[in-house]
Amino acid sequence: MMNLDKILYKDELTKEEIIFLLSLEDSADQQKLFNRADQIRTTYCGNEVHLRGIIEFSNNCEQNCLYCGLREDNLSLQRYRMMPEEIIEAAKVISNLGIFTIVLQSGEDFFYDTHEISYIIYQIKQHADVAITLCLGERGFDEYREWKIAGADRYLLKHETANPKSYQVYHKKQRLIERLNHLRYLKTLGYQIGSGNMIGLPMQTVDDIADDILLCKDLDLDMAAFGPFIPSPHTPYQNKNAGDVDLTLRTIAVARLVLKNVHIPATTALATLDEDGRAKGLNVGANVVMPDLTPNPYRQLYQIYPDRKCINDNPLHCKACLQLQIESLGRKIADGRGDSLKLNDEPSRSLSKIN
Ligand code: 5AD
Ligand code: SF4
Repeated sequence: MMNLDKILYKDELTKEEIIFLLSLEDSADQQKLFNRADQIRTTYCGNEVHLRGIIEFSNNCEQNCLYCGLREDNLSLQRYRMMPEEIIEAAKVISNLGIFTIVLQSGEDFFYDTHEISYIIYQIKQHADVAITLCLGERGFDEYREWKIAGADRYLLKHETANPKSYQVYHKKQRLIERLNHLRYLKTLGYQIGSGNMIGLPMQTVDDIADDILLCKDLDLDMAAFGPFIPSPHTPYQNKNAGDVDLTLRTIAVARLVLKNVHIPATTALATLDEDGRAKGLNVGANVVMPDLTPNPYRQLYQIYPDRKCINDNPLHCKACLQLQIESLGRKIADGRGDSLKLNDEPSRSLSKIN
């Protein structure tokens, strides 16, 4: 018989204990888990919430992930690519809002070659005192190296599922082992790395989610993201059920218990499924919010899944709205870059510009 109160205060959790926590159904028990996760978040991350401004600069993708609206075979999606100068301009707008991480995100789009991405990174770094996170899918090892030299700080590559068989079903052309090799290589290059999974994908079990959390620990991530699956039209999974909000919240909470000093976002997918999703995530272990600040007319075309929350036209309104939400929780927006919690001393913003 598992003892909840004891487990919540253990330093290391076994897989069985993780499964037990993920499976809690009684609302008082869940609340105990959430409170403990919130406490651990306060200890390791404090009260600050880090904002990461996302620029989705291309919705073209050469992959065909079964769950994703950007998959190559989705011919009904209008595709776009932003030009380098537009991307650099969008980054300046974000940094002027006082958001000090820019996430450059796209499908796997090899239209942008190594040098073009390097140019964009370098130019942003010249003009704005920000950290740059790349989220471009699996690219070449040489490219990762060049982009690090050009000034990229972090790489986000979600593993999506730790179950190799499911991984192969969802991705066909790609293999889990390959993805993990990329993540490990990125880490050796000095990138701060982020990964994570989706909750509620077809075939997924609670056992799989426990493995996902343990894999995040094994990878020694700097950031771990857990967002619910949302069925997307014109994909093979269009008629499947969406992920469960409470299970997603329990996953965030258990991940905080297990991973401790990592950044964990309250994802846009969670905010899309539940209008209080962002606040709920921040209350059960999350310490990061990633607003989509892609300029129009592109933003509404980045349809990974439908009806994304916060398609707010005006970046100023978006920042003000987030500030209100975050302050109403008794938290505050961080004023630094929010580098890895695993780095001993976070480089000051001005120093990092010289480096
Ligand atoms: N629902 C929720 N998240 C999704 N992603 C892709 N498709 C979906 C979906 N249908 C997430 C994946 C991927 C990122 C681009 O978006 O985690 O890494
Ligand atoms: Fe492409 Fe990423 Fe969507 Fe897969 S999840 S189809 S790689 S954008």
